[in-house]
Amino acid sequence: MANAWPDVIVGCTGGGSNFAGITFLFIGHGLRGGVKPRIVAVEPAACPSLTRGRYGYDFGDTGKMTPLVKMHTLGSTFTPPAFHAGGLRYHGMAPLVSHLRELGLIEASAYTQTECFAAGVQFARSEGIVPAPEANHAVKGAIEEALRCKRGGRAETILFNLCGHGHFDMSAYQKYFAGELRDESYNEQELAMALAGLPSVSA
Ligand SMILES: Cc1ncc(COP(=O)(O)O)c(C=O)c1O
Repeated sequence: MANAWPDVIVGCTGGGSNFAGITFLFIGHGLRGGVKPRIVAVEPAACPSLTRGRYGYDFGDTGKMTPLVKMHTLGSTFTPPAFHAGGLRYHGMAPLVSHLRELGLIEASAYTQTECFAAGVQFARSEGIVPAPEANHAVKGAIEEALRCKRGGRAETILFNLCGHGHFDMSAYQKYFAGELRDESYNEQELAMALAGLPSVSA
């Protein structure tokens, strides 16, 4: 519809569904010999499954009821600190997205919530759409790509997924403007314990 093909595609990643929706068509096209755009997953620094998680078998749920799946995981017992993108607080990542990361077909980056809210506010003021806190991660990633192009004097087409509006998240924006949002780091010890507790699966 836009009569353009993306050079780079950005999506936020909680469990991986909106990211897969926006990127898999293009990844498949690239694997079949077509143009290969760069693909960037953006996750919260407070729950960094793709950038800090281990690639191995784990439960998909905290109750350990699901079948084991191979994915990037922080451990099903890992509890991230409070932050305002509830949809990105999942400990694991979709197995297909994880596999693509292992194959080096996608990149992953992580940002704090205040950086992402700043990007969301910039987007709202420019475009008149208030993004969901989850979507702010993709907005932040897209702005970083645009700034990279600006620095390098490059013209690239950047596609990102605005995966939800922020109409139910006004209190989070109010807190952001009141300077009440904190970037809490996760507990390294808790992460180590959660990873140590991953189920052992013989090869
Ligand atoms: C607006 C929005 N975006 C993204 C997500 C994260 O999910 P996924 O990574 O599976 O798309 C959620 C989850 O609740 C959400 O509400």
